[in-house]
Amino acid sequence: MSIGFTTRAAEQTVRAGELLAGVVRPCDVIALTGDLGAGKTHLVQGVARGLGVAEPVTSPTFNLLVVHPGALPLYHFDLYRLERAEELDDIGFAEALESGGVAVIEWGDKFPAELPADRLVVRIRVGEGDERRFELVPSGPRSEALADDWLAACQEAGLR
Ligand SMILES: Nc1ncnc2c1ncn2[C@@H]1O[C@H](COP(=O)(O)OP(=O)(O)O)[C@@H](O)[C@H]1O
Ligand SMILES: [Mg+2]
Repeated sequence: MSIGFTTRAAEQTVRAGELLAGVVRPCDVIALTGDLGAGKTHLVQGVARGLGVAEPVTSPTFNLLVVHPGALPLYHFDLYRLERAEELDDIGFAEALESGGVAVIEWGDKFPAELPADRLVVRIRVGEGDERRFELVPSGPRSEALADDWLAACQEAGLR
């Protein structure tokens, strides 16, 4: 059985991201998977809103990483154009994940071996129309707690 929730409008996905920001801790790593247009960037925009990030958040496709100052620093990765795992060294991937911020990684399933063992994978599937199904796949004690807290917040907000 998979745990997760469904959104039915883009703004609901932003809201879900905002709720995620309410339960994250320093050094949390969240890997987003899902096709182009699934809603990965919208989710990150919500995280940014929840962390009080002032600047706009767009897909960092041409930078691979954009750091946004907030209540916790938001490390927004987009690995779409990344071809080799070695390139992750050039952008300081491992260091960034350990630096005390919150890392959210679009196309985070591309190089799973480069991710920490305990990370929250969020699989986004496109449904009918504006429906998006979010499946949470934790892989250790911290990401399990994070998934539980996030789900509880989503359910309280009426997302199921
Ligand atoms: N429930 C939903 N959640 C998120 N985006 C949605 C939803 N329904 C429709 N959309 C649309 O899908 C697109 C998602 O874009 P984006 O967040 O950039 O996706 P990705 O980063 O996964 O490529 C936007 O055009 C948005 O308006
Ligand atoms: Mg995107």
